[in-house]
Amino acid sequence: MLVVVLLAAAVLSKEYRKSKSTTSKSKSLQKPQKSLSLNKDRKFGTWTPESFQLPVPEPFPNWDIKSTSPLPYRAFKHKYNITMGIRNMDWNSWFELDNEWTKFHEEKLKRVKQYDKKLHETGVEAVDAAYELLDEMRNYLPARYPTLFQKTNLGVKNLETGEDHKFRGSYRVYKGPGSEGEDPMLIAAKMVQDDLAVMMESDNGEYILKAGAVILPGFWKLEDKYNQTLENIHTHGDVPKFKEKLQSPMEKFFIRLTCDKAVVRNNYFLQTDEELGWSSSIGDEFGEKVGWYTADEANDISKIHLRSERQSLRRLPKSGAIVFTVRTYFIPISKLVEEPYIPRRLLNGIQSWEEDVQEYRGYTKFKDILLPYLEQKAEAQEKLGYLPEKETNAFPF
Ligand code: HEM
Repeated sequence: MLVVVLLAAAVLSKEYRKSKSTTSKSKSLQKPQKSLSLNKDRKFGTWTPESFQLPVPEPFPNWDIKSTSPLPYRAFKHKYNITMGIRNMDWNSWFELDNEWTKFHEEKLKRVKQYDKKLHETGVEAVDAAYELLDEMRNYLPARYPTLFQKTNLGVKNLETGEDHKFRGSYRVYKGPGSEGEDPMLIAAKMVQDDLAVMMESDNGEYILKAGAVILPGFWKLEDKYNQTLENIHTHGDVPKFKEKLQSPMEKFFIRLTCDKAVVRNNYFLQTDEELGWSSSIGDEFGEKVGWYTADEANDISKIHLRSERQSLRRLPKSGAIVFTVRTYFIPISKLVEEPYIPRRLLNGIQSWEEDVQEYRGYTKFKDILLPYLEQKAEAQEKLGYLPEKETNAFPF
């Protein structure tokens, strides 16, 4: 049985890599024009609109809301290293949607009904950028996923749910918090599986979170990060080695990012419950005490999940704002360990965490149940010949 499952997983992963490389080398995708350097020597906090146009993506081959599986991101290595970990993004894949779209959408609607404004916000200064994001999504989504979205005169229609998202042309246009009209960031988040944030440059060159729809974040809250700089966002969250290793390259990267380049990065966390929206093991989402320190030790392996985010960053040409997308991939560990080489790789990765990383990632809350389980699954695979030295490196898969 184990052999059959492992073989199936190996074939799937190989097929996926094959299809991905066909997509990324495709000829029909328009090449993005080189960014004009109108803004190279800009004064911080100012932006001259550029003429860059988002390349029209190819339709995702045979995309189907029922049968297209989530991409098999397994974004862990045998040794954990703290780096920015960014790679160039293929413009085709700005937003990744799959057969979990409906589940994500329903969970988003449920949580918005429950918590509404706590989950999304667009500050007055970010309204133009948020509408620009919607316009860009209108150019991208119906072209990439034509069976799910249709361009309309005023916005985008969802062919599955019937939602008719009107961005403009209505008398109820959103002008900022407290105004009439639907928050454009909420509209954006209802179309995709991702959470979204808009970062704007201040007059001293810092990037500040000015708009967001953070609906399925698992471990953090928009209200804690809204109006905060990149530095505060990461230091208040105690991101390990942020100051030593990440802050300076990250800040430079944000200032220099041009419209014709986009990047992605992937991460992973372990979660000790099955909740996609908010990991309640670390406390009540809007309660006083939130953090791994409040969590109970996990005792049910079936509840442990891998939460892996695929994040993208790009700069919008008209407003100059940077859009940050976070797409979560959520999979039970019990399913993950069926894949070849995965139990050993994940085990090694976790065992290589330094103390600050252990603390940040809640190590003590799942180690006693997860580590022996991974060891046992790894040994079973190794008996069948799946030895780490035979594994090919296909990060982030
Ligand atoms: C190049 C860009 C970025 C890099 C290299 C980066 C890096 C990181 C790293 C290393 C972590 C720890 C978890 C992980 O491994 O991912 C983290 C956490 C986080 N990042 Fe970033 N980040 C970037 C951009 C952003 C942006 C634009 C936002 C804006 C919302 C953001 C918000 C967060 C939040 C909210 C957390 C969780 C903090 C917490 O635990 O409270 N990051 N980031």
